Amino acid sequence: MIDLGTCQPFASGYNRHCFRHPDDPSLCLKVLRPENIEARYQRQPWAKKLLGRRRIDDNAQELKAHRQRAIRRLLSRGEAEMVWQHLPRFYGAELTSLGSANVSELLLDDQGKPAQTLEHYLRHRGFDQPMREAVGRFCEWLQTTGILTRNLLPHNLVVTALSGQPELFLVDGLGAPTIPQTLARVPGWNRHYIARKLARFELRLAWEQSDQMVSWERFQRLK
Ligand SMILES: Nc1ncnc2c1ncn2[C@@H]1O[C@H](COP(=O)(O)OP(=O)(O)OP(=O)(O)O)[C@@H](O)[C@H]1O
Ligand SMILES: [Mg+2]
Repeated sequence: MIDLGTCQPFASGYNRHCFRHPDDPSLCLKVLRPENIEARYQRQPWAKKLLGRRRIDDNAQELKAHRQRAIRRLLSRGEAEMVWQHLPRFYGAELTSLGSANVSELLLDDQGKPAQTLEHYLRHRGFDQPMREAVGRFCEWLQTTGILTRNLLPHNLVVTALSGQPELFLVDGLGAPTIPQTLARVPGWNRHYIARKLARFELRLAWEQSDQMVSWERFQRLK
């Protein structure tokens, strides 16, 4: 078991704490924040509560998301490099002193520190030309691979610059948990789903650049 007792997370989202692996600094360990999972569970209507806590367990959902059809197909065809072009390499789950952790590649900046998010980049540098091109490459990758994601949010995308140009990696929000598997087999349906996610991402990027006087929820309704 990995002991995280003396470790501090390098970053935290609402649902998970992210640690550098104490024995291998190239790996990221994500453990659930039980207090927030419980709060989310309690806020649900009773009908959804019947479906259980696993449905809102982001680690369990992420493990499932990595088994999605498009990823399985690329891996079985020997095209793993294509999968990891915009996703941190994923190594499954391991037990830690803080419960089960999902293990993935820790994305680093050019100084060897955990890389910053797209949200951070946009705030500090704006939506400059190199980032517009990085967004273009990321969106094209989703369309080419057919990999399904939830809504794409700037704080769930991390920016690396190891090749001299910014590159986006999706660190959270893989998969399409609300979609029945059968639909994902209907020809053209995946393409339609991805196109909708990309349109919404474009809108989100426009909102990020706005003065944000209007909330994101309202901004979406106005468009
Ligand atoms: N593989 C990684 N490499 C570098 N940084 C990462 C990695 N994974 C996560 N991070 C950082 O940790 C933060 C939180 O991770 P993550 O988004 O997985 O947590 P979460 O609690 O599931 O998020 P949310 O609040 O969106 O549900 C990210 O916004 C990012 O800054
Ligand atoms: Mg997140």
